[in-house]
Amino acid sequence: MKPKQLIAIGAIATAATITATLVLSPAAESHKSVATVDPASQTLRQLGARHGLYLGTAVDMAALADADDPQYRDIVASEFSTVTAENVMKWETLEPTRGTYNWGPADELVDFARANRQRVRGHVLVWQNQLPGWLTEGVADGTITNDELRDLLKKHITDVVSHFKGKIWQWDVVNEAVSDPWDTPSTIHYKGFWAEHLGSEYVADAFRWARDADRNALLFYNDYNIEAFGDGSATDKTAFVYEMVKQFRADGVPIDGVGSQGHLGTQYGNYDALQVSAALKRFTDLKLATAFTEVDVRSELTDAVVDGSSSEINPRLQASAANYSALLQACLSNRHCLSFTVWGFTDKYSWIPNWSDGQEGLANIYDEDYQPKRAYNTMRADLAFSGAPYVQPRIPQRPRR
Ligand code: XIL
Repeated sequence: MKPKQLIAIGAIATAATITATLVLSPAAESHKSVATVDPASQTLRQLGARHGLYLGTAVDMAALADADDPQYRDIVASEFSTVTAENVMKWETLEPTRGTYNWGPADELVDFARANRQRVRGHVLVWQNQLPGWLTEGVADGTITNDELRDLLKKHITDVVSHFKGKIWQWDVVNEAVSDPWDTPSTIHYKGFWAEHLGSEYVADAFRWARDADRNALLFYNDYNIEAFGDGSATDKTAFVYEMVKQFRADGVPIDGVGSQGHLGTQYGNYDALQVSAALKRFTDLKLATAFTEVDVRSELTDAVVDGSSSEINPRLQASAANYSALLQACLSNRHCLSFTVWGFTDKYSWIPNWSDGQEGLANIYDEDYQPKRAYNTMRADLAFSGAPYVQPRIPQRPRR
C-alpha cells in the first residue's frame, strides 16, 4: 500500500473516532461544551485574532487627543489591532519647513499603538498629494532641479524610515503611482508629480531606499481600484499594477506586498468576494503579501437621505455592508492577506463628505454617534462564522532581501 492511501485511511479513522466521541459522550450533548464564538461579545480585533488577521483603522490624531470625545480613543484601542496615521506621517506634516522635522504627532500614534499592543502601518513615503509647499513650489519655480528632487526624495525616505525603524510593521512605500482608466489618455500609465520629474524608475528606487533604512519592515505598493482584475486590456489598472510588481519581483526590487485601498461606493454596485479573492491570489502567487489598507464604502447623499428617509438609507447601509463583507471574505480566503484596515471607523470624522463636497457620506462602520452600523456586524459575523478548511491562519511574512 502506498503511504498516501495510509494517510487517507488514517484520516477517515480519526474522523470516525471524533464522530463517535461526539455521539457517545454525555458532555457533547450539552450545548455549553461546544466551543463557539459569540460575536456579540467579541471585538473586531479579538475575532480577527482567531485567523491571525489584523484589523485596523486610520487614526485622526486630533480626534484621538480630544478629551471631550473619549469614545473615539476607546474604540481605536478596543476594536483594532493595527493603526495607520490618517495624515500625520505624510510629508507635509513631517517636514513643513525644509530641514525641520515635526515628529511629534506621528510619535504619539506609535506610542499609543505600543501601549495598546497594536501594529503600525506606515503611511506614506511617496505620494503626489500632501507634499510640503516648499517642495512643490521649489520645483515649480526651478529652484529645485530634478536631480536635487531625487536626492530630496532619497533623504526623505531614509530619514523617515530610520526615525521609525523597528516600529513599523508595513510601510506604504509608494502610493497611487498609476493612472485611472478615465484619465486622458485612457491607457494606464505612471502618473503624477514624481513620474513627471523623475521618470517611472522612482518607484523601484523608493523601495530600495526604504529597505536600506529598515530591513525588517514589510514594504508595500498601495493603490485604489485594484480590488479586481478587469479585461486585461490597456485600461485595466489592476493588470498594470500586477505587471509592475511582477517585474519588480523579477528584478529583485525589495517589495513585500500590495495594498488594496478599498475606497468603494454603493452607487457602483457590489463587489463579489470570489472575484476579489481571485485577484488577491494572483498577487500572492507572485510571493507577495496583500492587505486591504483604506476600506470605506460611501453612498450618495441624495436629498431623501439627508432628510432621513429610511427607505433611501437602508438599502445604502446594506450595500455598504455587502461591500465591506466582500473584501473581508476575500482577505480571509487568502493566508497572505495580512491586515484589513478601515479608513476611519466613524462617520463623525470621515474624509468623504469633505472630499466629495458634501455629495457623499455614510462610508464608515459606525455612525456619527458611534452606533455600530450593519457593516460592523457583518464584518463580525464574517470573522466569527468562518474557519477551516477555507479560512486558515495567516502566514507571517518576512521581508524579501
Ligand atoms: C486622505 C485623508 O483621509 C484626509 O484627511 C486628507 O485630507 C486627504 O487624504 N488615499 C490615501 C489617503 O492614500 O492618504 C487619503 O487620505 C485618502 C485616499
